[in-house]
Amino acid sequence: MRFVDTLEKKRNGEELMTEEIESFVQGYTEGTIPDYQASAFLMAIYFQGMTPREQGDLTQAMARSGDVLDLSLIDGVKVDKHSTGGVGDTTTLILVPLVAACGVPVAKMSGRGLGHTGGTLDKLEAIPGFHIERTEREFIEQVNTIGAAVIGQTGNLAPADKKLYALRDVTATVNSIPLIASSIMSKKIASGADAIVLDVKVGDGAFMKTKEEAEELARAMVAIGEAVGRHTSAVISNMDEPLGRAVGNALEVQEAIDTLRGEGPADLTELSIQLGGRMLVAGQRVDTVEEGRLRIREAMDSGRALDVFRQLIEAQGGDASVVDDFSLFAQADYEEDVLAKRDGYVTHIVANEIGLASMKLGAGRATKDDQIDPAVGIVLHKKVGDAVRQGEPIATVYAQSEHVAPSVAQIERAYTIGDERIEPKPLLYLFEK
Ligand code: URA
Ligand code: CA
Repeated sequence: MRFVDTLEKKRNGEELMTEEIESFVQGYTEGTIPDYQASAFLMAIYFQGMTPREQGDLTQAMARSGDVLDLSLIDGVKVDKHSTGGVGDTTTLILVPLVAACGVPVAKMSGRGLGHTGGTLDKLEAIPGFHIERTEREFIEQVNTIGAAVIGQTGNLAPADKKLYALRDVTATVNSIPLIASSIMSKKIASGADAIVLDVKVGDGAFMKTKEEAEELARAMVAIGEAVGRHTSAVISNMDEPLGRAVGNALEVQEAIDTLRGEGPADLTELSIQLGGRMLVAGQRVDTVEEGRLRIREAMDSGRALDVFRQLIEAQGGDASVVDDFSLFAQADYEEDVLAKRDGYVTHIVANEIGLASMKLGAGRATKDDQIDPAVGIVLHKKVGDAVRQGEPIATVYAQSEHVAPSVAQIERAYTIGDERIEPKPLLYLFEK
């Protein structure tokens, strides 16, 4: 069959057969289907959509286009978590030790990526000595010994997705729910997850700007997971303002440690408990999310989760004494407070602006070759709903240069201070699959 016939079928809104989807993925990965045909195909999917069965087929084909990690040497149900990305989202660092402390093994492959702050790997590398390279054997051994490991993605994880994502980026086809859902799920499946818990972000600082869109993405991913035999559940969480208070790599590790101690910001703590509870259900340690939440809370309060984090740091060559002494993290040379211009209440913080300000300070990458500075970033002292007095610090900027005025100005612009107190939006939207 010629690929142009598949293309025509999708253009006309017909459902494709499994073999047609497989031969597209294989042909494009190998280079026998050219970019111009693949571009037209992606655009046809953008307009015509895909049935759940087609999305499952696309996901499987992309997952199998490269290495598929075999985690069968690790006992128990391997649960992975994915967040669709937000500003200051430190939950992975918190969840890995928390869930492991509750007896569910966490074998996590993480990425770096572009964005406002680094990815989970960049954050972990803010811990002096921490290494993210491990052979597959060492990775598995570590999970069997201490219950958790976080390593870099292998070079050949879902290469079809890598190639297609790059093409989508330049053909205005990123924002298609079937394509996003299959892209995310293909990588989770290739990295060996038996079960997946998804955190779909909604709001200013997220890919999905409305609750309806976020629900649609969540449903699509859950349907794919179920279609390919992986227990999948999702929550939708608010990303109108940054999560927690810290935005920046070492700053977020510190925030994660505070949260593991039970002393973290309320929103980050609540989201970690909610996601952790679901991961324990997915890992078959508990029957209900409520029971999972209680176990997670107990792992925080008893200090067991923090112990697992210390063990994880040591197992990967890092200095675990940072947990008890934050001065061992790289420090920024300059600190400057951002002051409230008036009395009132914080009514809005544009998450995206805070993210961009942190990236400009050096906490994130604009292009893939940019270097990350672990020490820089922003700490927010005031969040939506908080009262402020004129002249009071609303945030602190951590920088390596004394020219912080543009960052201070950008953070000031991100905040709206009004006369009336407003209730922050709910952190989580309950959603029935
Ligand atoms: N993240 C992904 O991994 N893929 C997408 O398509 C969008 C976000
Ligand atoms: Ca944070």
